[in-house]
Amino acid sequence: MYISFKEMKSTVLAAVLSALLVKASPIEARAPSDFDTFNFALTLEHVEVAFYTMGLNNYSQADFVSAGLPDGARNQFVEILEHETAHVAFLENLLGDRAVKPCTYKFPVDNAKAFAGLSQVIENVGTGAYTGAIGTLSQQYVTGSASILGTEARQASLIAAYVNNVEGWGNAFNIPLTKDQAYTLAAPFIVSCPESNPPLVDVHANPPLTFPSNSNPGDTVQVQFTATTDASLYAVFLFGLDQIVVPVEDGKVTIPRNLAGQVYCIISSSADGVTDETTVAGPAILQFEYTLEGDYIPNH
Ligand SMILES: *[C@@H]1O[C@H](CO)[C@@H](O)[C@H](O)[C@H]1NC(C)=O
Repeated sequence: MYISFKEMKSTVLAAVLSALLVKASPIEARAPSDFDTFNFALTLEHVEVAFYTMGLNNYSQADFVSAGLPDGARNQFVEILEHETAHVAFLENLLGDRAVKPCTYKFPVDNAKAFAGLSQVIENVGTGAYTGAIGTLSQQYVTGSASILGTEARQASLIAAYVNNVEGWGNAFNIPLTKDQAYTLAAPFIVSCPESNPPLVDVHANPPLTFPSNSNPGDTVQVQFTATTDASLYAVFLFGLDQIVVPVEDGKVTIPRNLAGQVYCIISSSADGVTDETTVAGPAILQFEYTLEGDYIPNH
């Protein structure tokens, strides 16, 4: 069960690499408004709807079961697609004719097991995006967004624990992602968007960062990114509400020992942590999974 996870992870990371070439929407510079944030959220919800629609068209009940997934897995994905479709309708209702239309998409999976693995990654990123964005919204929109956030987090945990048989959280706090961080992770799935779509405001994909697929907490590993400066750089691990900063030395990073679940690493020019302004590359996704009995599952 866990092998395809790692395969899936390296394909996700490879896809992130190719993100460089993808510019899903032109960028417009002005202060983001609530509507800009809704269109950003709608951009991510469209990715999710496309992913589940495609996956459910691709894989039958027999495909899910013969991939070793539980009998109820496919039906859970059917219900998750219903939720995502409702989230799209909710955001479209708020946005009216400002709403971005769906794009065309590609996903680096071709079997039910890899699909289930990538769904866990995507739901975690979606949950992180809502967690990060909610504080930028006007008060009247916070409850609706928190309501979607809660559902995305339930989906992420259900897919992890029930479908993929691993723990559904990292620690007591969900990781907030900035729009740039979430978009960097979603952009590889977006092939092209209708020209009539309004541009995403103040949202950019960062350059890619990759870790070896056999990275584990406590390891010192060589990371891949393009440095544009000779100045000291830092690897910032996002874990719960914490930013754990370690130096980058000769392209090597020592992964903190206490990490668990889906965590993110970003290369920053600041020893104080990371903001969009100090970001050099990433985020990279790291998965440090535990069995439901609480035993660490090493990445090989
Ligand atoms: C669906 O199947 C096609 C053809 O094999 C594949 O290219 C695509 O990645 C699959 N999508 C998902 C989400 O499984």
